[in-house]
Amino acid sequence: MSVESTLARHGGTPVITKAFPPYKSLGEEEIQAANRVLRSGVLSAFLGSRGPGFYGGPEVQALEREAADRFGVKRVVAVNSWTSGLVAAMGAIGLEPGDEVIVTPWTMVATATAILQWNAIPVFADIDPQTFNIDPDAVEAAVTHRTRAIAAVDIFGQSANLFALREIADRYNLKIVTDTAQAPGAMYNGIPAGTMADIGGFSLNYHKHIHCGEGGLLVTNDDCLADRLQLIRNHGEAVINSNSPQDLSNILGHNFRLGEIEAAIAREQLHKLSGLVASRQLAASRLTNALSRLPGIIPPFVPEGSTHVYYVYGMTLDLDELCFDRAWILDALSAEGVTGLFAGYQNIHLNPLFIQRIAYGTSGFPWIGLKSGDSKVSYAPGLCPVAEKLHQHTFLGLNLCAHAFTNDEIDHVIAAFEKVWFYLEGGRQSL
Ligand SMILES: Cc1ncc(COP(=O)(O)O)c(C=O)c1O
Repeated sequence: MSVESTLARHGGTPVITKAFPPYKSLGEEEIQAANRVLRSGVLSAFLGSRGPGFYGGPEVQALEREAADRFGVKRVVAVNSWTSGLVAAMGAIGLEPGDEVIVTPWTMVATATAILQWNAIPVFADIDPQTFNIDPDAVEAAVTHRTRAIAAVDIFGQSANLFALREIADRYNLKIVTDTAQAPGAMYNGIPAGTMADIGGFSLNYHKHIHCGEGGLLVTNDDCLADRLQLIRNHGEAVINSNSPQDLSNILGHNFRLGEIEAAIAREQLHKLSGLVASRQLAASRLTNALSRLPGIIPPFVPEGSTHVYYVYGMTLDLDELCFDRAWILDALSAEGVTGLFAGYQNIHLNPLFIQRIAYGTSGFPWIGLKSGDSKVSYAPGLCPVAEKLHQHTFLGLNLCAHAFTNDEIDHVIAAFEKVWFYLEGGRQSL
């Protein structure tokens, strides 16, 4: 592809002059599914009282059966968002106020706030600089006598190191919750990502590979945990009887119920998951082929045994190789018309919620006033140096679920990178 060499940032013609169409996973099948529910007139069949309605309507229950088949798990509990799913999961594993849960700082904030919802304490452990997933060594270093669980996130589209995490969890008698919001369809040593934890699950929000507007799927192979998840989803305290699970702690007043239209759409989306994942993988491999030839840019690293589904194409910049900082590079690429790019991601340990300890009121609860004594957990800068450096200086992401990204569109993105890198190379040589 021949392109003019003056950077768009300096007044030249951008490589990409026409906006790419947005990513769209919905089609006629979803329209028909939604219409089927509308015609039935029953938009939700959930009832917060004893009886069959406690478990939701036909679409919700069919979605749960089909998702259990798709992901190879015993039980699925559908919820109205993955944030709800995370809250339910943290409750179901039996967190007590003051229990510590080790969690990555490089995630959407709901992974950590779900812990706080049960008055438990998030403890942040740093990430692996290559995969951006929680580092098992950092997890082990963070274990204390208060640790009850590990919350691992399969960030950007590939599984965390679940073999190592499971080994640590077994050694210290911890539960594992995985947040696979961004990695449905990814595989880890032949096992679907999200299914190796005590409880895992997926987001079905609009921005993900597959969606139904808002929604989430909890997955587990543990019947007792699945029963507790169902109770937490739907005002479980109202239906407790002699058949209920023995452990009734944390069963209190929630409505995390998914609607029938959303469930019907999600069923269709599940059928499309493999194809949608394959199209992201194709785009990513085309990008990697080209970008790995450019100095100072490190494409996503995929460990052996893992498949990546590329919710985000995560790159690291080697700033010693490049003579411009990340802000300049992002600006230059954006001026060339590349959309969906972003610099840095999350350092949630530095969120004011944690630093100022203002989750509930202003007195520092739940970090103080615990039966087991005040929490000494730190949220200071420097706690997670790998995540902090990536966030502040070196990480560059491309949202691969922002556009369809046909081969042609990916080639335009590559041309934009090559044009900017050609300029950078010139700058380097003139130093
Ligand atoms: C890693 C991660 N966790 C949790 C969530 C929350 O999911 P939802 O928006 O379905 O509540 C998201 C959504 O962006 C996410 O990416």
